[in-house]
Amino acid sequence: MTAMVALFVLSFGIVLASVTADPDMLQDVCVADLTSAVKVNGFTCKENFTADDFFFDGLAKPGLTNNTLGSLVTGANVEKIPGLNTLGVSLSRIDYAPGGLNPPHTHPRATEIIFVLEGQLDVGFITTANVLVSKTINKGEIFVFPKGLVHFQKNNGKVPAAVIAAFNSQLPGTQSIAATLFAATPPVPDHVLTKAFQVGTKEVEKIKSRLAPKK
Ligand SMILES: *[C@@H]1O[C@H](CO)[C@@H](O)[C@H](O)[C@H]1NC(C)=O
Ligand SMILES: *[C@@H]1O[C@H](CO)[C@@H](O)[C@H](O)[C@H]1NC(C)=O
Repeated sequence: MTAMVALFVLSFGIVLASVTADPDMLQDVCVADLTSAVKVNGFTCKENFTADDFFFDGLAKPGLTNNTLGSLVTGANVEKIPGLNTLGVSLSRIDYAPGGLNPPHTHPRATEIIFVLEGQLDVGFITTANVLVSKTINKGEIFVFPKGLVHFQKNNGKVPAAVIAAFNSQLPGTQSIAATLFAATPPVPDHVLTKAFQVGTKEVEKIKSRLAPKK
């Protein structure tokens, strides 16, 4: 009986593990062939690989934050590091100018954990019960954004800030709420947005024009 319970708990744990992150790999390595036209869940494996397929130096320096939002996310995922294919992890670096915002967004495929390299950030996520969970975090501190939940980070300090973010997915994916709704191609119809946000067409058109992808 105890063995049955243990087996049940074990198999439940395995099921849980397989739904909370990318699928597990079936071999040592499967370095992504990013040029392959074959569509699979992830990327097909390259025949030959080198150490450089597991290397990336793109997070060494701060990203440029001289844009409208005053922040820049630099990904270190399978698209930059082919060796991450099937391994279920990735990083990014996020830089924030003073006043910079990484606007409300979700990662459909990953939980995120951030470590503050420099500065101070006001961060938060919103639960499905519509509760805001927020905190001010400083250099050396950590905060977690659960998988799929809408979250943001804002630098309310007077100096630049930066974090390293880790994800339990090789490619967590990002949906930025404002851009998703107001800058999609083809556009989300105005009548959907006026009703959803309880405003007029003029307001919706104004937001759409501000968020329109730069040509
Ligand atoms: C992989 O390496 C082998 C042995 O060096 C070589 O024969 C083969 O052509 C390589 N394959 C590709 C796709 O480069
Ligand atoms: C941001 O700064 C870089 C380097 O100073 C410059 O090349 C780039 O054009 C700037 N971008 C914007 C949007 O101002």
